[in-house]
Amino acid sequence: MVARSINPQTIDCLRVSEFPRIGFWRFELKPVKLGLLGVGTVGASTALVLRNNAAEIARRAGRNIEIIQASRRNVGAGMPAGSGEIELVSDPFTVVNNPEVDIVIELIGSEDPALELVMRAIENGKHVVTANKALIALHGNQIFAAAQSRGVNVVFEAAVAGGIPIIKSIREGLSANHIESVAGIINGTGNFILSEMRDKGRDFEDVLAEAQALGYAEADPTFDVEGIDAAHKLCILSSIAFGIPLQFEAVYTEGISGVSTEDVVFAGQLGYRIKHLGVARRSDQGIEMRVHPTLIPEKRLIANVDGVMNAVLVQADKLGPSLYYGAGAGADPTASAVIADIIDVARTITTDAQNRVPHLAFQPDQIVDIPILPIAEIQTAYYLRMRVDDRPGVMAEITRIMGNNDISIEAILQKEPESGVTRATIIMLTQKIREQRMDDAISAITRLDVVHGDVHRIRVETLDGD
Ligand code: HSE
Repeated sequence: MVARSINPQTIDCLRVSEFPRIGFWRFELKPVKLGLLGVGTVGASTALVLRNNAAEIARRAGRNIEIIQASRRNVGAGMPAGSGEIELVSDPFTVVNNPEVDIVIELIGSEDPALELVMRAIENGKHVVTANKALIALHGNQIFAAAQSRGVNVVFEAAVAGGIPIIKSIREGLSANHIESVAGIINGTGNFILSEMRDKGRDFEDVLAEAQALGYAEADPTFDVEGIDAAHKLCILSSIAFGIPLQFEAVYTEGISGVSTEDVVFAGQLGYRIKHLGVARRSDQGIEMRVHPTLIPEKRLIANVDGVMNAVLVQADKLGPSLYYGAGAGADPTASAVIADIIDVARTITTDAQNRVPHLAFQPDQIVDIPILPIAEIQTAYYLRMRVDDRPGVMAEITRIMGNNDISIEAILQKEPESGVTRATIIMLTQKIREQRMDDAISAITRLDVVHGDVHRIRVETLDGD
């Protein structure tokens, strides 16, 4: 590959490759040298794909890209066969301090020691590619500020929705638009569990064990099941969609462990599917950021995204709705996103730092604090399930409370009790209402003598762009 433009950064990257007889020096760009932190599922795949697709990657990047050093805790396990000549060390700080390394690929995950390693890499003037959503969601503001002042790039496509280029699409492809909302199935493990429960009636624990064996689940699978992983990702998406600081603590998070097979069946009878959805929406009052089980009309494309697949629906003022679908977890899909980032960085190493795409899509001085709405202030529709005495007047008592709270009922389903049973299950769908009103209504309904146990609530999103 021949260097086409010369600026101070480019000169650093040049090497003389030949001295042709016609009398011109021929310069070419030196290979980009990578230091890999972590040789787990994604790290191993990244090393193999970089090697197997090396020629195609070099055609795109304009120069060769090679891992020169990697770290893994268990050095004895070696590098995967076929990944080439890579020096393996046990101490990741050796890699971030290696003067030969241009880009550090952080695939260790979690906060500790990833944060210290990334900060050290930045301090050492290295670019960073990471798949670490917790790191970006929790420490991104600090990381990007350091990267900005050091003039290096920190990129994180693989942190959200695995192999789907959703960060690039929002940050670059939609940059002409005012983004109104982002709604996504952004945890493959959770979606796999809900899909198997619905289609095969499988047990929650059994499906989770399979997701772990397939390498989809987080090291701590409660992150998947309780929505923390999805909340990390939603926090990142909100930031690049709306130009707000990363603020993980402001994301309302509810997991899928409370979703019963009954709910999955009733939702189906009403024409809905239950998905674990991350929703970020901008309104005049502020920004909503929430992750929770959600009923979605089954006719929506996103309601039919099953298994480990992810999908993100973006509502933008000029493009309108657009849907991004693909593998949200797994070794090769995640490596695909990591390597796309590496190629992007390799292409821009020779450009001035201020001419690069901003880390969070908006120029750093244009990131603004817009109020985040507490969950009690959001407006949505609801699915309710309750167990009640099966006798006259019960429905009237419940609907009176709904009316008193300005809640309009869209549909009611009463399951006939089995013979000899004096209690029935009632399912209700409501129209949109402020969550605080629904909380008040649920408290009052729960206090009725004729209602037994909790009133189960699942939020409903029509996702029709309203
Ligand atoms: N545990 C994550 C998931 C992996 O299941 O989606 C990808 O971030």
